Amino acid sequence: MLSDEQNRRLTQVGAGTPMGELLRRYWMPIAAVAELDDKATKPVRLMGEDLVLYRDQVGTYGLLDRHCGHRRADLSYGWVEGCGLRCHYHGWVWDHTGKCLQQPFEEIANPEARFKDRVRIKAYPVEAKAGLLWAYLGPPPVPLVPTWEPFTWRNGFVQIVFSEVPCNWFQCQENSIDPVHFEWLHSHWTRVLQGNEGPKPPPHLKIGFDEFEYGFVYRRVLEGQSESDELWTVGRTCLWPNCLFTGGHFEWRVPIDDENMLSVGWFFDRVPNEMEPFTQDRIPYWYSPINEARTGRWITTHIMNQDFVAWVGQGALADRTQEHLGESDRGVIMMRKRMLEQAELVAHGGEPKAVIRDPAQNACVRLPIIGREYFVGGYSRANSDKRRERTPGLVRRKDFPFLTGQPEEIRQAFRRAMGLDAEVPRDVRSPG
Ligand code: FES
Ligand SMILES: [Fe+2]
Repeated sequence: MLSDEQNRRLTQVGAGTPMGELLRRYWMPIAAVAELDDKATKPVRLMGEDLVLYRDQVGTYGLLDRHCGHRRADLSYGWVEGCGLRCHYHGWVWDHTGKCLQQPFEEIANPEARFKDRVRIKAYPVEAKAGLLWAYLGPPPVPLVPTWEPFTWRNGFVQIVFSEVPCNWFQCQENSIDPVHFEWLHSHWTRVLQGNEGPKPPPHLKIGFDEFEYGFVYRRVLEGQSESDELWTVGRTCLWPNCLFTGGHFEWRVPIDDENMLSVGWFFDRVPNEMEPFTQDRIPYWYSPINEARTGRWITTHIMNQDFVAWVGQGALADRTQEHLGESDRGVIMMRKRMLEQAELVAHGGEPKAVIRDPAQNACVRLPIIGREYFVGGYSRANSDKRRERTPGLVRRKDFPFLTGQPEEIRQAFRRAMGLDAEVPRDVRSPG
């Protein structure tokens, strides 16, 4: 059980709060690169700050104050030009550093005054990596955007999925170090929702947690398995400070503000060897709804949707003064302790964990990965489903089990990439 004060410290994300300052030491994914191909500006709310993301006509990304420095119009309704973003209200132009480049009427009325040199707006750096756009809201020097190992993999079908979840980010991140929930929230509940079909899921017999440079590893032994299985010897990763990494996918819990979170999923599906080489010129993205239009109830059919139901069910901001923690929560306790301690460190001017500044180290940042050889080397379609049966996650998926609402064209692209329409000869599948 935590005190009110500790609960606040763990959850508040505004500038100047302990956790807000800790989180501002890390790059946050806020959009897909392909999103700005479709529309050049995107309103973004990040850690309680209202911003606008854009890409101008020469390809420079900017992340600016949502409100124009003139009379505060909403710059997400502005338009991009050769260089910078032009406000739709009186035409002032801002560049990615927050500098004012043009003030059309001021320049006619009083060209000598160079008023534009005296006004600036808030601006943050943006970088593209792995099909995502990343923002850094912290103080200089700006660290590197991590090149997590899967970002370097080839021959995979990658897709990015966003969902807006109306609760605080930290209860979502606590789920990243909670192995036992999988058995109940996913395996048992899915069985119940489907009318108790199929065999009962194996119970957890043993769990373990370890801290490492980039977060924590959680391990499990399920009934029928042993300590020589990779679920125990390798484990899965609660990636510092706000991500779950399972081996094949990442789920970032990006704070929108104290009571809302943007779930950013990055999913890698290795294509079978017969389908190599496979490359994507554009990593597709989509937004997944979280409630049913007809009833307003949360959607429960997909794995991450089930997680969302648990998280929002804890309240917009979980009240940790009312809880009763047990053995299954050892990882959660460990993470809370480290978070509070790291926030304190930052408040005293220290450098927190997992900030990457060395380019050599960042060429490829290795993480614990169950079945690494499967993701890297691939497999032949003929034996794709044999040896991995015992390890959840290592199967050639035929559909997308994580989130509801995948657009049909992405489903089709995935099936083509995976060779799932195998009965159709390849030259017929992709004419020209
Ligand atoms: S409010 Fe933006 S130019 Fe006037
Ligand atoms: Fe889950």
